[in-house]
Parts: sequence; structure tokens; C-alpha cells
Amino acid sequence: MTVSNQTDSHIAGHHLTNRTDTVWIELTSHCNLRCTYCHQSVPTFHAKDMDVGDFPRLVEHLQAMGVQEVVAQGRGETHFLEHWHHYVDQIQAAGIAVSGVMNLAKDYSEEEMLTLSRYRSITVSVDTVDRELTKRIRRSSDIRQILYNQTRIVATALAQGTKPPRIIWNCVTNDQVVMGLCEWISMGIALGVSEFNLALLSKFTHVPDALNVDHVTTLPDGPFLEALQIIETAVALGRAHGKVVTLHPGLTESLQRHREKIFSSQEGQRDSEPHADAGAGLDHIAVTQPGQTRNCLYPWSTAYIEADRSLRVCCISPIFKQLPESWDLAEILNGPELQGFRQAFLRGQLPAECAKCPTASITTPDDLLTKVEKYLSGKGSPRANPV
Ligand SMILES: C[S@@+](CC[C@H](N)C(=O)[O-])C[C@H]1O[C@@H](n2cnc3c(N)ncnc32)[C@H](O)[C@@H]1O
Ligand code: SF4
Ligand code: SF4
Repeated sequence: MTVSNQTDSHIAGHHLTNRTDTVWIELTSHCNLRCTYCHQSVPTFHAKDMDVGDFPRLVEHLQAMGVQEVVAQGRGETHFLEHWHHYVDQIQAAGIAVSGVMNLAKDYSEEEMLTLSRYRSITVSVDTVDRELTKRIRRSSDIRQILYNQTRIVATALAQGTKPPRIIWNCVTNDQVVMGLCEWISMGIALGVSEFNLALLSKFTHVPDALNVDHVTTLPDGPFLEALQIIETAVALGRAHGKVVTLHPGLTESLQRHREKIFSSQEGQRDSEPHADAGAGLDHIAVTQPGQTRNCLYPWSTAYIEADRSLRVCCISPIFKQLPESWDLAEILNGPELQGFRQAFLRGQLPAECAKCPTASITTPDDLLTKVEKYLSGKGSPRANPV
């Protein structure tokens, strides 16, 4: 039986949350880079610094709500904002762990390094360790500086006698970098990276006179199958060294679907059928059907505040409200919009944004309900969305 067939009493109480463990804060949506695949390269994208107003008040709210972790990240580069570390220092001083997702492509002062060395985890956006390719995709950044900065953060923590941040590498997996993934993971292992993530490229722009990357599924059949082998080898290499290696479910699904298409088309060819569309790059994220939902706890566990104070639960979800001057987010998190959003998850009636989410896998409402119950009763990690 699916939850959509059940009475609402079955899910009663689960449209509220008593546990917002994680809050993402986009202090700025400006960035020092213009990676060719990023919305920063879309001419109509307008960046903004957050009007931080009474920032200590926000920190008080986070403390009162029992928030466990703030992630300093949004659509820009938080660590590019002037005095970014003054805000992060206030959060850390309140006893809340801070993590970040960053490009590490600039020089940092001693002060900034000290703040970074106290992060719980740092996700570094590294798609390739090839110097030329890095320059062309993550435009004008230098991999040598990125790797030096990463090492300096760890060394700063060691010199302070504190635990270094957990270093995670995120790769936007694409046709240009995929063949170098074994070198990528080997370099990461050599540099003490703990975790590797292969993300699905969201493709929404074409930059003139630049290296535009595309999905791995757009490679011709032969190179595509070779790329699959390279991904498998890289994953096995990382795991053999005790590393956590994850693939976005959306990436796994699209690769599997494309592989099956190639093989079924080859079968068809043997039966004199014309070759289908292998290599045409027509694979898309599997969209949930009514009655299906996503393996996602963010509606319960997470708040995401954009630079203009819009409140979402992740960078893809719908926007629910603008935060008021008072920064009071607790009320909004259990307000009618978010209650409805959670009910939609538990009924298997997802909004369009979540129906085609690249990061959370598809599941049944019953399964999600079990995970939500467990989470709200204080068990389980919020960051580890149960993919
Ligand atoms: C938008 S960036 C913001 C943080 C920071 N500027 C950075 O690059 O790490 C967050 C993450 O999204 C990834 N990203 C950017 N554009 C993407 C796209 N089109 N598809 C998938 N991931 C993307 C980046 O590589 C990065 O790991
Ligand atoms: S560094 Fe991050 S935000 Fe900036 S352009 Fe690259 S992916 Fe986008
Ligand atoms: S399903 Fe995806 S888009 Fe929706 S809240 Fe979860 S992570 Fe965000």
C-alpha cells in the first residue's frame, strides 16, 4: 500500500519538523570564477551579496533551534565575499560547526586560513587534475593553487593542534573530464581526500568561444563504454583505499539507461533494425510518477537561505518565503507552505523541482515515512540523504 492510498492520519505529525540540523547560508551569489557549465556564465544571472543586517540575531536563532551545522555555500563563492570569515567566526563561536563548498581558487590571508582550518568539512570543486583542462572549464583557475590551498588548510589545523577538516572532492562529471577520473582520484588519494563525489551535470548554458562540456552520454558508443570502465575503475580504486566514493543517483541512472540503450540497439542491429539514438545524449533524469517520492530528508532537516533571504530546503527546491528582518526562520519552517511540501513528499505528489531532482533517488512514500520517523525521533544523519 502506498501512502497516497492511506488516510492522512497515517502521516499526521510528520508534516512538522522538530529537528532542523543543517542550514545553508548564501552570504553572496557573486563568484571569482566563471566555470563554463555554471549559472554564473549565464548572462541573465544577477549576483547579490546578502544584506546581513543584524547577523548576530540570525546566529541566535540558529543556536535556539539547535542547528548542528551551517554550510557556507550557495550559488556563488562565499569565500570571495570581503570579510566572509567575520560571519563564519560568529557561527563557529556559537558552537555550531561550519562546512563549506568552495573553489579554493584565490589567495587567502592567515586569518582566513585559520577560519577555514576550523571547518568540519570542505568540499572542493575539482573536476580534473589536468592543468589545461581546469583552466578551460573552471575558467582561469589554477589547479596548483587549489591543491596548495587545500594542503595549507590541513597544515594550518595541524599547526594549531586541531582536527583538520574532512576534505571532499566534487566532480561535475562530463565528457571532457571523464577519461581522466583515475588520475583525479589518485591525486585526491595522494593528498588525503576522504570522500569523492561524482555529480550529474545540469546543462543549461552554452558559452561562446569557450570549452562547453556535455553529459558523458553524448560521447560516441565506443568512448562512452570506455568512459564507463574508467568510472568503475576509479570508484574501485578509491574504495580500495578506504575512501567514500558516491555517484549522484541521477548520474548512475542516466549512465545505466544509456548503456542499456546501446546494447539493445546492438541487439536490434543484429535483427536488421536501424541503429537507434545511441550517443545522441537524449538521456534525462528519471522523473518521479504520482505515487513515487524521493529519498530526501531535506524538507525536515535543512533550510537554505539565499542572498536575498529567500528560504528553500536545497538549491533546487521551490522557494517558500523571504526571511523577515528578524531572521526568524523557525516559524516559517513549520508554516503552511512547508507543511504542505512535506505532505506532498509523503503522499508521492512531488513538485516539479523535486520530481526531476538529480541528487536523491526515487523511493516509495512508505519507505520515506519510515526514514522521516527515524530522523524525527533523533536518529540518523541529516547530511547523509539516504540515496
Ligand atoms: C554552484 S557551486 C558554489 C560553490 C563554489 N563556488 C564552488 O564552485 O565550489 C556548488 C557546486 O555546484 C557545482 N556546479 C556548478 N554548476 C553545475 C552544473 N551545471 N551542474 C552540476 N553541478 C554544478 C560546482 O562545481 C560546485 O561543486
Ligand atoms: S566557482 Fe562555483 S559558483 Fe563560481 S562559477 Fe564555478 S561552479 Fe559557479
Ligand atoms: S528531492 Fe531533490 S530537489 Fe527536492 S528537496 Fe530533496 S534534494 Fe532538493
